[in-house]
Amino acid sequence: MYIFKTVAALQAHLNEIRKTHQQIGFVPTMGALHQGHLSLVDIARNKHNYTVVSIFVNPTQFGDAKDLDHYPRPIESDIFKLQQQQCDVLFWPEPSEIYPKNHKGCKIDLKGLHLNMEGAFRPGHFEGVVEVVKRLLDIIEPDTLVMGQKDYQQCAIIRHLIKSLQLSVNLIQAPIVREKDGLAMSSRNIRLSPEGRRKAVRLSATLFQAKKNAVLMPLHQVKSEAIKSLNEAGIAIDYFEIIDGLQLHSIDNFEQADLVAACTTVNIDGVRLLDNIILKGNKDR
Ligand code: PAF
Repeated sequence: MYIFKTVAALQAHLNEIRKTHQQIGFVPTMGALHQGHLSLVDIARNKHNYTVVSIFVNPTQFGDAKDLDHYPRPIESDIFKLQQQQCDVLFWPEPSEIYPKNHKGCKIDLKGLHLNMEGAFRPGHFEGVVEVVKRLLDIIEPDTLVMGQKDYQQCAIIRHLIKSLQLSVNLIQAPIVREKDGLAMSSRNIRLSPEGRRKAVRLSATLFQAKKNAVLMPLHQVKSEAIKSLNEAGIAIDYFEIIDGLQLHSIDNFEQADLVAACTTVNIDGVRLLDNIILKGNKDR
């Protein structure tokens, strides 16, 4: 696996790769890689024969400087995992490579997609994500971008970015990878106490039940049943929303949208856990 720290070296390498007509699949990450990330690498590699992964802890998407400082950076084990996964290139830049002095940023109208759910709890977060993903796409110019459905709102916003700037990259929204008991994989799971880890199982169980309920009862009741289930387990809820899967606004009628998803974030042991499920429709659009 090649490791590049500068834009110039990475681009020179990728130009050579393109001459051999290989297509490039790209997975952006902030490191602390787990099985969920590695499944994205697999998808990128199976789709195209050249795979680039970036590890960059992006300062512009953190509201709190302490969170940024404490973000895990286990680079040695990340490199090992990527090598095992047969990743071709790791791009591991310093902030000055991503945000040079002449960097202009990326201001697009997010049409309110960034305001509810995670956006309401993390003001400015999605503007930072859009800025870094646009910059990485400009640098790498991949044929395919692979991102995880676990960050549902993030995927929807990046889909909007690609569409509104007519970028020539294909976005694959990869399925959530779960532990055997259903908990969605996340770098944050290791911060749960044994008791919190047991409680966390209720999160996915509630979403699976919501999917069953969605064909049996009105959506407002699906939502209230889900909230009841999380409350009964003593789980603090940041939000539980049933949304139009593209526009991301809450809906209360299944017929209001072709793609419908339930998205939630809860707080266990002070750890924010995100999860979601598609209740209706096809995510690949
Ligand atoms: O999902 C993440 O890890 C980050 O938000 C991303 C997409 C790598 C941008 O920094």
